Amino acid sequence: MPNPTSLTIRRPDDWHVHLRDNQMLAACAVHTARQFARAIIMPNLVPPVTKVAEASAYRDRIRRAVPADLKFEPLMTCYLTDGADPVELARGKNEGVWVAAKLYPAHATTNSAHGVTSMDKVAKGLEAMEKAGMPLLVHGEVTDPDVDIFDREAVFLDKVLTALVKRHPGLKIVLEHITTKEGVAFVEAHPKQLGGTITPHHLSYNRNALFKGGIRPHFYCLPIAKREEHRLALRRAATSNSASFFLGTDTAPHTTDTKECACGCAGVFNAPVAMQVYAQVFAEEGKLDRLEAFASLNGPRFYGLPPNEERITLHARPMDVPDRVEVPGGGKDITVFHPDTPVGWSF
Ligand code: DOR
Ligand code: ZN
Repeated sequence: MPNPTSLTIRRPDDWHVHLRDNQMLAACAVHTARQFARAIIMPNLVPPVTKVAEASAYRDRIRRAVPADLKFEPLMTCYLTDGADPVELARGKNEGVWVAAKLYPAHATTNSAHGVTSMDKVAKGLEAMEKAGMPLLVHGEVTDPDVDIFDREAVFLDKVLTALVKRHPGLKIVLEHITTKEGVAFVEAHPKQLGGTITPHHLSYNRNALFKGGIRPHFYCLPIAKREEHRLALRRAATSNSASFFLGTDTAPHTTDTKECACGCAGVFNAPVAMQVYAQVFAEEGKLDRLEAFASLNGPRFYGLPPNEERITLHARPMDVPDRVEVPGGGKDITVFHPDTPVGWSF
């Protein structure tokens, strides 16, 4: 069947977003809120969001940063540190502040210095989450410098996640921003316990894109893009209609100067183009009829939330992708993700 020329679906949610704070928040919040009704907000601020009161105050700042005409609900997460307090975790969940908690292995990625050094050190916190029905969101990479960067996700599944699912069988877990066929298989093997999010950029390019014609820092993120066979596995998973896979953009803004330098930051800023790129991918796969499940139904189902009632319409007409978004005050900007192939869908 040929693709339709427009597609109306329930308003989607983004289950993995970095909004930052202060002027970066002011620059970025509108782009996520234009596309998504709700978003899981990552807690890797400096310092990280570890207390209920901090998350509640951050949620207020996000709400204030979103234009009043946009309906948007930030869903807050707790940054797990060694010795994470089980009482604070359960209390925040019961008070309706925490929706989930985030596990960063220490030093795995941006602002993860306060992350977890060993799973034993968060076992009590995870037990409390299991009891409270609070999902664990996992950055699934080992941090051992002796493990090749392209193997760090697959090794994490073997060395950490396999034991974790056994030790906490009642804990719901999201393996975030999966980048490998092993990640896909792991999620598929644990349909009751695990979900997996997939970003628009990992669906769009493989690791060759990082070096095409020179080093391209705006394609660099963590986990890093892998070989083509892995990108194809992600495309199959996202468009498979399996309820285990759902949308999480991992939009991760850094100012252009901190990406284009000798030691550039990891993160792809895709918020202004996210749904358009997902639609492009699903259209390329001939599976547009499955976009609504991936973008608007599977995530709420995993989190036990109702799907959104509003609808959005995407059209099969090319999008003019903006080059950059200005950060107010200070003259800096954030470079927007541009896939290497044209984006043929837009609002
Ligand atoms: O590329 C990334 N950027 N991966 C992460 O896990 C963190 C994120 C960020 O905060 O910039
Ligand atoms: Zn992230």
